[in-house]
Amino acid sequence: MPRPGRRVVAIDLETRYLEALDLPNLEVRCLDIATETAEPSSFDLVHTRAVLVHILECAQALRNMISALKPGGWLLLEEPDVVSLTSAASDPADRDSMAKTIDAIVQVHLSAGADPYLGKRVPTLLRERGLTEITVEGTALVSHGGSAHAQCLALTVTKIQDILLETSRVSRAEVDRFLALMDDPDHWFMDCVMVRACARKPGG
Ligand SMILES: C[S@@+](CC[C@H](N)C(=O)[O-])C[C@H]1O[C@@H](n2cnc3c(N)ncnc32)[C@H](O)[C@@H]1O
Repeated sequence: MPRPGRRVVAIDLETRYLEALDLPNLEVRCLDIATETAEPSSFDLVHTRAVLVHILECAQALRNMISALKPGGWLLLEEPDVVSLTSAASDPADRDSMAKTIDAIVQVHLSAGADPYLGKRVPTLLRERGLTEITVEGTALVSHGGSAHAQCLALTVTKIQDILLETSRVSRAEVDRFLALMDDPDHWFMDCVMVRACARKPGG
């Protein structure tokens, strides 16, 4: 909720849910951050969560976000890294089904030019672009089947399962087992690490 006297601009390619918010001081814009920029040098804070990891032109998107910051403004990036995404099942076959499904997801992303390991690279990307006062932390949730995180993973895999099978790195039976694990409240797994990096644009 924007504080009185503060202006918040919420940017996304898909603004359907943001439009429904109708909050004072909140402006919703449909904009592709890979190709367009908000007003240069205008914002005290630019924040994204789990956005750059989906953008092939991630470097350009980052440049556009930095350009929108006022000198001395802060950039807060929260981006996942798939490195920790593993099953804690007792049955090795279950762990294997999850590992192979995740491996297929990783391969699909890598071959499309996206980086599912982006999280760990975020501090380096900020340093290379001249940002200062970088602080970083990472959190990996341990979650279980049926949780919101598990449902999100299951929806993603259900949507792209044909593409995953085409990689030949996972079988139909293993994908089905993965989906069953994501629905099983007794199955625990470690989720992606969410890396949070905060840094300052020089000047100001
Ligand atoms: C995984 S969702 C994260 C949503 C939200 N930030 C959160 O943490 O719950 C990724 C979001 O990035 C948006 N997105 C992807 N590419 C984009 C682009 N080039 N420009 C602007 N938004 C983009 C998608 O529309 C989607 O809403």
